[in-house]
Amino acid sequence: MVNLPSIAILGTGSMGGAILSGLLQPGVEVTGGIRVTNRTPAKAEALRDKASELGSSSLVSYSLEETPNANELAVAGARIVLLGVKPAMVPDLLRSLAPALAPDTLLVSVAAGVTIATMEALVSNPVARAMPNTPAVVGLAVTGLAPGSRTSDEDMDVARALFQTVGDVLDVPESKIDALSTISGSGPAYVFYLIEELTRTAIDLGFTPEEAAVMVNGTFRGASELLAASGDIAPSELRRRVTSPGGTTERAIAVLQEQGNLKSLFDRATAAALARNAELAAG
Ligand SMILES: NC(=O)c1ccc[n+]([C@@H]2O[C@H](COP(=O)([O-])OP(=O)(O)OC[C@H]3O[C@@H](n4cnc5c(N)ncnc54)[C@H](OP(=O)(O)O)[C@@H]3O)[C@@H](O)[C@H]2O)c1
Repeated sequence: MVNLPSIAILGTGSMGGAILSGLLQPGVEVTGGIRVTNRTPAKAEALRDKASELGSSSLVSYSLEETPNANELAVAGARIVLLGVKPAMVPDLLRSLAPALAPDTLLVSVAAGVTIATMEALVSNPVARAMPNTPAVVGLAVTGLAPGSRTSDEDMDVARALFQTVGDVLDVPESKIDALSTISGSGPAYVFYLIEELTRTAIDLGFTPEEAAVMVNGTFRGASELLAASGDIAPSELRRRVTSPGGTTERAIAVLQEQGNLKSLFDRATAAALARNAELAAG
């Protein structure tokens, strides 16, 4: 059983909602309850329904339209406040929230591109930054977690435990959060893109879209599970085991290596993502 102290999630959309799902699992107990906010009543209601379906009675779900001071109510007494709103909204939210925050409440932002320095300038609380990815929805996220200048070891332990409810957590300095975001944050999109393209090839080889989906989705899933189940065996070794010398896979891999030059392509793709991050951070 994982025990977490009271939590507020401000902005419980795709990412905030995925983390809420982690907190509502049977093996997780949140002492002092979970309070979540959104703008619209429909979203607040949907989260209430989700919690009751899962048999959780510890969730209070507010909408700002019905309860204009919902965010202030949600943070009252919270040990940890997760900021799940869009990046552009974070500064205004922090400005309005500052008077309502208890001094030792930890703020953790998942907003891309909003620096800890920006947030620390707006509140006197400890602030950490996290970069989860969308497999959080199925409890298989990779989250990069960076401390701020005021966070204690205990703050980071609580933040780590929060994100571990939805997957793996990697402790990184904030200087590496943007780079991490180009690998694991954007990474699910790279994988889906590879799946899309291999599916198109399968269809061109004469398979129906349904057959192609069975083959390609199943292969990506199977290979990932095999890797996960193989302990310390490196992906290169697992690849070698599928690649008999002089065989068909060897020919295909040679084309991917020589003509695709995937490493160089990934270098350029992640560099483009990093450059865009810098543009967004500059406003
Ligand atoms: N999605 C990802 O893969 C991902 C990965 C890493 C980090 N992030 C970060 O996660 C954050 C949220 O992204 P998202 O994709 O989850 O967006 P989203 O689905 O639009 O969620 C944002 C939520 O914030 C609510 N909201 C808006 N203004 C609010 C306010 N003043 N107070 C409280 N709630 C408010 C919205 O409610 P209504 O819909 O009712 O207006 C919405 O549910 C972003 O900062 C993003 O950078 C996302």
